[in-house]
Amino acid sequence: MCGIVGVLGNHEAAPILVEALKRLEYRGYDSAGIATVNDGALDRRRAVGKLVNLSDRLVHEPLAGKAGIGHTRWATHGAATETNAHPHRAGKVAVVHNGIIENFRELRQFLSDNGIEHVTDTDTETVALLAGYYVDQGMAPREAAQKTIAQLQGAYALCLLFEGEEDLLIAARKGSPLAIGHGQGEMFVGSDAIALAPLTNTITYLDEGDWAIITRSSLEIRDEAGEQVNRDVKTVNIDAARVDKGGYKHFMAKEIAEQPVVMTEVLGHYVKSDGIQFPNQDIDFKSINRLTMVACGTAYYACFVAKYWFEQLAGLPVEIDVASEFRYREPPITSGTAALFVSQSGETADTLAALRYCAGKADKIIAVVNVPESSIARESDVVLPILAGVEVGVASTKAFTNQLMTLAVLALEAAHQRGRLTDAELGDYLENLRSLPGILNTALGIETRCEEISLKLAEARDILFLGRGRMYPLALEGALKLKEISYIHAEAYASGELKHGPIALVDQHVPVIVIAPRDDLFDKTVSNMQEVMARGGRVLLVTDQKGAEEAGDGVWETLIMPEVDAFFAPILYAVPAQMLAYYTAVAKGTDVDQPRNLAKSVTVE
Ligand code: F6R
Repeated sequence: MCGIVGVLGNHEAAPILVEALKRLEYRGYDSAGIATVNDGALDRRRAVGKLVNLSDRLVHEPLAGKAGIGHTRWATHGAATETNAHPHRAGKVAVVHNGIIENFRELRQFLSDNGIEHVTDTDTETVALLAGYYVDQGMAPREAAQKTIAQLQGAYALCLLFEGEEDLLIAARKGSPLAIGHGQGEMFVGSDAIALAPLTNTITYLDEGDWAIITRSSLEIRDEAGEQVNRDVKTVNIDAARVDKGGYKHFMAKEIAEQPVVMTEVLGHYVKSDGIQFPNQDIDFKSINRLTMVACGTAYYACFVAKYWFEQLAGLPVEIDVASEFRYREPPITSGTAALFVSQSGETADTLAALRYCAGKADKIIAVVNVPESSIARESDVVLPILAGVEVGVASTKAFTNQLMTLAVLALEAAHQRGRLTDAELGDYLENLRSLPGILNTALGIETRCEEISLKLAEARDILFLGRGRMYPLALEGALKLKEISYIHAEAYASGELKHGPIALVDQHVPVIVIAPRDDLFDKTVSNMQEVMARGGRVLLVTDQKGAEEAGDGVWETLIMPEVDAFFAPILYAVPAQMLAYYTAVAKGTDVDQPRNLAKSVTVE
């Protein structure tokens, strides 16, 4: 994980680096640092904790210079201390790194055999020491960097800065994304285009194995074999203004509120007046007999919901798996299989590795991503953007609902192509989908109730979530949201599974949140709810008006949602899952947008 930036500018680099790091803080936030070259001298400042600690330090100990690199860290090797913070420096070289160097032990041994010892626990220091070693041997920075990069195994996005070189950055990419930004007589490097959005929208993405020699007036890119290559210069459409809180207390609150708007955008992209269209993409569901869907975390729960849709609507057998397990099972990919990967960032290491496992085996690789320039998108045959806009809060909200919207349209298309839905039936389903942004907008009105109920939830140590059928994945999503931002232990179960063990946990101290719109499975869920209440459990029922009326007495709290077509109800019921987590976290005073130990984009295994 981690975010990296580099600047060869015409103004002081430090404020530009800090500003760019702010936009990357979602990638990690346990320490940060910058290095610059000024009058030939290389110097750095680092600080543990949030970026604001680094900014404060720079007020008292400023760093001059127009060339620099910066880093915001999510620790992999070594604790979050100042010593372990980047940039790492070895003599005349400073390095920032995102990824993991897998052969760092061998490289350490090599350095140690040459009398060079490490002072940190990090794999990145090894890169700095190796480059420093070659510079000390008399190599020019470019040769030293080339020789160093050639020895690295693992995943990395790197940016190197050299003492005495005020017009040179060397960047390299393998397994972790890296964008080079073109300015007016200035050049920039960033983990993604978002970091560079206020500086430039003209971007060159490095390909796997590429490394680049960057000056203010030139960009030379070499591939892994050392051949000079051309990579496209793209204009990316990132609205810099969208990456602020817009008056909300947290990004998460803003992103929850944005859902009706971004849902409308994604619907407009895929659903036209004459039916479904996937612009420039070719998906033939008639030739597919199996769908394998793989993702992590919230994106996995989106797959889980979609499994119901594809199976029930399109009659297509669907296998789902979490990406970190998928390839180690060595699942056979039979002929006629389409493999579909869902990822907000498009950079999640496990999801990317699962995709690579399927490449060449599956008939079609489909990506459902929020970042169309991401690695997962670039390695797929079919790319379906979810158009949720930049999501900054670490807990995914609007990306989840737009993943669901996109997958719902895809399931409808599959059903239609496979002759399981007539044109008229498809039209009815699309009508229901079109009404969803409006209904979700109404559902945002549960906010005050969520705030009240969350004050009580915040006192609990453990919380259970129950759901049945399409609502089971929503229960899982509710539990994940709650634990990641409020730090309250939460578990989700399929309602019917409760009596097979978890019911032993139920007592008056464990709130049980039952997510159950009044659908064809409602009565069964009510029976499970009664089992909980009979054992003194406190039930929070999340349902619609009819459900509330039919649930009977004894419910602790009821949260009433607007009526919605049962098939697409999981999209609407994302709102209470998100809001209960949000207000419980607010009540507990946790760091909602940047919860402890987490990072937004998990680019390590
Ligand atoms: C939870 C959350 C994570 C991500 C997961 C996958 O709120 O955001 O569970 O869903 O890390 O990330 P992407 O979608 O970027 O592959």
